[in-house]
Amino acid sequence: MSALAESVLAHQVDFQGWRNAVRQHIAQDTPPEALHWRVAAFGEAIPETEDSSAALPASGQRLTLSRMLLAMLEAAMQARDETRFTLGYRILYRLARHELGLNDEHDPDLTALRVLAESVREETRAFRERFSAFSADRSTACLHDSPTHYIIEANAAFCQARNPRLWEIRTPYRRALWNGQRLFFGPGENEAAHVQASVWQPAGQGCWHGYPQTVLLPALKDIEQADSLAALGALAMDCRACPSWENATRTVFGCGQGLFRLMLVGEQPGDQEDLAGMPFVGPAGQVLDKALAEAGFVREQIYVTNAVKHFGFTWRNGRRLHQKPDETAIHACHVWLEAERRVLNPALVVMLGATAARSVLKKPVTISRERSRIIPLDATTAGLVTVHPSYLLRLPDDSTRQKEYERFVADLKRARDYLHDKGLLEPQ
Ligand code: URA
Repeated sequence: MSALAESVLAHQVDFQGWRNAVRQHIAQDTPPEALHWRVAAFGEAIPETEDSSAALPASGQRLTLSRMLLAMLEAAMQARDETRFTLGYRILYRLARHELGLNDEHDPDLTALRVLAESVREETRAFRERFSAFSADRSTACLHDSPTHYIIEANAAFCQARNPRLWEIRTPYRRALWNGQRLFFGPGENEAAHVQASVWQPAGQGCWHGYPQTVLLPALKDIEQADSLAALGALAMDCRACPSWENATRTVFGCGQGLFRLMLVGEQPGDQEDLAGMPFVGPAGQVLDKALAEAGFVREQIYVTNAVKHFGFTWRNGRRLHQKPDETAIHACHVWLEAERRVLNPALVVMLGATAARSVLKKPVTISRERSRIIPLDATTAGLVTVHPSYLLRLPDDSTRQKEYERFVADLKRARDYLHDKGLLEPQ
């Protein structure tokens, strides 16, 4: 065996550094058992990793990784398991030498990699749910967490999408801070005792690039089994069931305490909702808030969501112009609305406008025909169709707008009376 070589990685999830070293050592034909992997201590200067993307393996043929293997490696490299770097290297070394086929289901190395990757994914799901619940609780901006694996960095993009406001995550091995504009990583609570606690390093700079970003496409069975809105909101962040996710900034899931068993459904997030990560915060949201207050509701106490969870738009003169969601988006997103209804079990679903009514009632709806009456939806839930608040904003003259606004408030009062008659809220 050749003398032991050492590869030092900048941090626990230095995937870029690991890949560079893997390429280099495969090109030099370093056997896996002759290569020692180590993670630098916080603040330790490490030799620059060369960009070895041009290096060819000893076979002379470039090694192309399938998307599936890459995703598995990215997940497994977050496992709290000291053998992970060697294991990954051995797999790629053997692939490069044609000593391993990816279809070799019983290969012990591939099996071990799969087990690590699945363990990380499982913890990722649980962490996302905790972060989602933390984000809904506005009383604190700091989440203390103790994940088993090194999952914080690879979920930072998820956390930014789920909660664009300020937050900090503290774990024993890493801290992450989102200041509303930039993401920073710092020493974990274990290390903070030994290093200056204020050492924050911006993501994208120095060693903080090329770390993995976990994408967890939601599986139908996970959606159907999720038992809280926080769990659903977390799962929905990586939804790619229709093309509308591609241009949107993020999934905008429903929010609110869900009291009184009342659920409001709008059409889809607009420009401001897409940026803020919350439904109805723009001009239509202001009309809605005012009308809800006049009808005796506090918006935060009820649950407000949309039929479609991604902002659909076209660019015009440098502005993102709202585009009505098509059948594909409404249909693809229906699974989320169904799941929200299952978890919340609302007594009443108020449908704001034609898209919401189309999605809830599962048929094209003429608002004037269905408006203002209680429609049974199933054994425990009724529906009420009304206009969308942005319809009120589009009305050209003040007197019509005022009249229509009053009708809108009257519909919300009808919703309130219905819930009151069912004993679900106190009289005003
Ligand atoms: N319009 C909607 O239907 N939903 C929002 O969240 C914002 C505007």
